[in-house]
Amino acid sequence: MKNFTSVADVQNPIALINEAIALKKNSSAYSDLGKNKTIGLLFLNPSLRTRLSSQKAAQMLGMQVMVMNLDKEGWALEWNDRAVMNGNKTEHIKDAAMVLSSYFDIIGIRCFPTLTNREEDYSEHVLKQLIKYSTVPVISLESATLHPLQSLADCITIIEMSKSTKPKIVLTWAPHIKALPQAVSNSFCQWMKALGMNLTVTHPKGYELAPEFADGIPVEYNQQKALQDADFVYVKNWSAYEPYGQTPVVSEDWLLDEKKMHAANARFIMHCLPVRRNVELPDELLDGKRSLIRLQAENRLYSAAIVMKKLIENKAI
Ligand code: CP
Repeated sequence: MKNFTSVADVQNPIALINEAIALKKNSSAYSDLGKNKTIGLLFLNPSLRTRLSSQKAAQMLGMQVMVMNLDKEGWALEWNDRAVMNGNKTEHIKDAAMVLSSYFDIIGIRCFPTLTNREEDYSEHVLKQLIKYSTVPVISLESATLHPLQSLADCITIIEMSKSTKPKIVLTWAPHIKALPQAVSNSFCQWMKALGMNLTVTHPKGYELAPEFADGIPVEYNQQKALQDADFVYVKNWSAYEPYGQTPVVSEDWLLDEKKMHAANARFIMHCLPVRRNVELPDELLDGKRSLIRLQAENRLYSAAIVMKKLIENKAI
């Protein structure tokens, strides 16, 4: 069974990116491909881009789409095997997945981390239980540790906008008022490594990313130094991996601005959205000529479409 849960599920990432770019140029070419097929999009957490881009991508391929806010509209699910269900959980994932597999040809799921239990989050228990009991392919719409459709869209954006074959890319931590998952940053690191990109990560001490995704990527704790001559600056907040889900106090100023970008001779800024304006990034950068946020969001359509196309065709992703 083919699933799409990380770059590890992709045979040739650069070929997939190029196919997505080709699909973007001819987006009506496959409008019959998914005829008589249905995708079910299940959300345990909120979403704007992932939900709507996945629906639109499925429609682009001629598929029917059903969306369910599983956390609010479904029965409370039990995710653990051999559970004695005498508490507040009404339906086991084993039964739910069997039913969903009989309704859908592909299932997408969004399942964020708890940020309280690292072992459980990093084991991807929820995603893996759905995959275990589904008999149709599963697409991650952002899991506890990874956001592969976002990373694929980000890679499409970088390839489209890059002047060189080896651009300098920086992933920088940004301030936030809440503890956020590490999924977007983990995933970005994973895809950059798979593509052999020149990536540096910069963050305050205490915000080191999970070794399983960030090992081998240079870390520069001085943000201004890291930014020097960067072609793409990916801005994202994340909570600490250790102590897990915490937000250690940062006394230095990590909010980027035009002055810092200009001083470093850095070029584009990227952000996956949603963004807290003037907390994570200032208006002047988000609305200015350096901003690729709209293109990244647009490319979510083609990252979802190319993955769905491969699954419909039953081809290697
Ligand atoms: N970037 C992203 O995944 O956006 P949503 O959370 O709105 O889907």
